[in-house]
Amino acid sequence: MSKILVTGGTGYIGSHTVVELHKAGYTPILVDNLSNSSIKILDQIEKIIGVKPEFYEFDLCDNEKVNDFIGKHPDIAGIIHFAASKAVGESVQNPLKYYHNNFFSLINLLEAYREKPINFVFSSSCTVYGEPDVLPVNEAAPVKKATSPYGNTKQIAEEILEETAKANSNYNVIALRYFNPVGAHESALIGELPNGVPANLLPFITQTAIGKREKITVFGNDYDTPDGSAIRDYIHVVDLAKAHVAAIKLLEKGNPNGNYDIFNVGTGNGYSVLEAIHAFEKASGQKLNYEFGPRREGDIIKVWGDVNKSTKELGWTAQLGIDEMMASAWEWEKYLHENPIQ
Ligand code: NAD
Ligand code: WQD
Repeated sequence: MSKILVTGGTGYIGSHTVVELHKAGYTPILVDNLSNSSIKILDQIEKIIGVKPEFYEFDLCDNEKVNDFIGKHPDIAGIIHFAASKAVGESVQNPLKYYHNNFFSLINLLEAYREKPINFVFSSSCTVYGEPDVLPVNEAAPVKKATSPYGNTKQIAEEILEETAKANSNYNVIALRYFNPVGAHESALIGELPNGVPANLLPFITQTAIGKREKITVFGNDYDTPDGSAIRDYIHVVDLAKAHVAAIKLLEKGNPNGNYDIFNVGTGNGYSVLEAIHAFEKASGQKLNYEFGPRREGDIIKVWGDVNKSTKELGWTAQLGIDEMMASAWEWEKYLHENPIQ
């Protein structure tokens, strides 16, 4: 079966996608510089799929290494490009790190395929919508000014991909706009590995429940939402991984919409922070110590996705609900507690 290059393949979403690609009969080939992941994830993947995936450690910002790698792997049929820096707060502190890493890696990969056709799936984000005017937000909604350099890299990367695909039909591109990926593989052998104090809600919840954090602060309870806390479209990482397999399949079949396309990847349902906390308590049987705090600067109030286009044209719909998201995140946190991976 065809070989798919998974950049950022030892990362959170990459590792789950490697598993789903293997299950679907593809041969994933991983590249990662391990800047935000561990080499031990390869053993974890092997425990799930029974084989250790082919892995190369290098920085995709190194143009020579990218060209050398692509030259030695002429049979790569598709690329899923996860590799990027993703911490919103860090991007505000150090914008150049984000512009450097997220653009050089993308451009090096694209340049290596000027002369030969490639199917290319890009990790974009619902962050491009900012605070949407209409909910659920669909792919035709305007892109709003980014509130962080990280968000800006996603907006500009989409533009780079659209313009590049328009200029050269060798590029066959799908950008997936993820909503909020959470949860872990049902085996609890892979999951999210936050670096330091988690900025995201779910790892903060699970680390509080396991006792690593004293309490969780709900950032804002005076928003214009039913319970006053902010609303997101949480998507199980295994469903998200499957959306990448669906995107590769659509590109292989030929996308009737042309050689650049965008899809929302969410469930279409919004949950507030308080609902997420209570769903976690129900799924895990753990009481959470939480308190209300001020709003977090730059936060969106409410966003959830219109998934009609993904359902109809990508042939993909999320299968797993909030209970599975919370239960699997908890199983992973407990596994990590017993088997630290760093
Ligand atoms: P992650 O940090 O777990 O995975 C990214 C991987 O890329 C890491 O293993 C890291 O070591 C690697 N990497 C980074 N720069 C590299 C480089 N120059 N060369 C080689 N490897 C490099 O992040 P994730 O949560 O799995 O996110 C994957 C992608 O999805 C990212 O592009 C991210 O921006 C995007 N995304 C993530 C979320 C989210 O909430 N997790 C939401 C929307 C979009
Ligand atoms: C979710 C909700 C918080 C922590 C970020 C990026 C976005 C995307 C996904 C990549 C919000 C609240 C959180 C806490 C809280 N990444 N919260 N207490 O902000 O939707 O999106 O990750 O593209 O670009 O901005 O996700 O998990 O940080 O927050 O109350 O300790 O939980 O205020 O309402 P967010 P999140």
